[in-house]
Amino acid sequence: MMEQTFIPKSLKVGKESGKITWQTPSNIALVKYWGKRDPQLPENTSISFTLSNCHTITSLTYKKKEVKNDSFDFEVVFEGEKNEAFKPKIETFFHRIVAYVPFLKEYSFVIASKNSFPHSSGIASSASGMSAIAMCLMSMEKELNSELSDEEFYKKASLLARLGSGSACRSVKGALVVWGEHSEIEGSSDLYGVEFTDAVAPVFNNYQDTILLVDKGEKQVSSTVGHGLMHGHPFATQRFAQAQENISKIKEIFANGDVDGFIALVESEALTLHAMMMTSHPYFILMKPNTLEVIHKIWEYRKHTGSKVCFTLDAGANVHVLYPESEKETVQTFIKEELFVYCKNGEYIHDQVGMGAKLLDSTHI
Ligand code: PMV
Repeated sequence: MMEQTFIPKSLKVGKESGKITWQTPSNIALVKYWGKRDPQLPENTSISFTLSNCHTITSLTYKKKEVKNDSFDFEVVFEGEKNEAFKPKIETFFHRIVAYVPFLKEYSFVIASKNSFPHSSGIASSASGMSAIAMCLMSMEKELNSELSDEEFYKKASLLARLGSGSACRSVKGALVVWGEHSEIEGSSDLYGVEFTDAVAPVFNNYQDTILLVDKGEKQVSSTVGHGLMHGHPFATQRFAQAQENISKIKEIFANGDVDGFIALVESEALTLHAMMMTSHPYFILMKPNTLEVIHKIWEYRKHTGSKVCFTLDAGANVHVLYPESEKETVQTFIKEELFVYCKNGEYIHDQVGMGAKLLDSTHI
């Protein structure tokens, strides 16, 4: 299924060569996307906080092919070294997007990339990695079509990113991003992420996220396999309906500054995501004993102090500790004194909500 509006009608003859660099963030879902249908369309609406410190910087160096051919010609350099392992994923990505980016086969590319977070930290790098390539390609398209409006630019960047990795479409623009059609979110679409522009109470500004690296290393279950397990899952229909309701609820929560409502919804979403994995066939437990230790510590701390700290999880053992900016000092002390022991090598990353992708000059990589 091709979305005709995103296929360029006419493009100028492009430059012979050039280099474009973007920095794009990771994101953490509050209402989770888990379950998809072709081509990479979500079974339910999701919403995420865009992160700031956890990001990828990617530069795309391009040069017109001397001899035209029908293949994708690219090299990948990851953290300074030539990388073959990422090539198949990017090749698949290029196949999926070539109809939208017809100049892709006219050039040879070098894609050089680095992450701000440690390699194999268990932090999903596909969101920032794929959105970075998408942004670079959109900058190339902009050079070929100066009439492309900002709105079209970001929509299409998000659409391309989605075809690389679903959640990547939420790593393009805005602090809070919604992906998936929802009757109460104007402009929302299954095709791309949109900035959540409804009312958000000040308590949710600059929300903090400390990522506790409970378990590092390769993901136990790839996202592709995980999403696939939602096909024929006994609770799938109910789960997808619940996520739609949770979007309506979180919209109210943001408008009313209802932090207690936020805690209840976000923690339940995280546990539901894991419950889906525990009740699929085959089944998985992606939490580790230390994940549960951290969760209990957070609950205990909240009970004793009245703090508004809470947690969320992605499809792994790491814990995202979320808290308002007003509690930055106290919660970070709590993490340093009581939670760091549950992290591999005592590692954690302080982050906070950011605004999305940034165009950089080429000196960064
Ligand atoms: O973008 P993917 O296919 O890696 O899926 C990510 C799914 C979760 O991180 C578990 C949830 C989400 O909405 O980001």
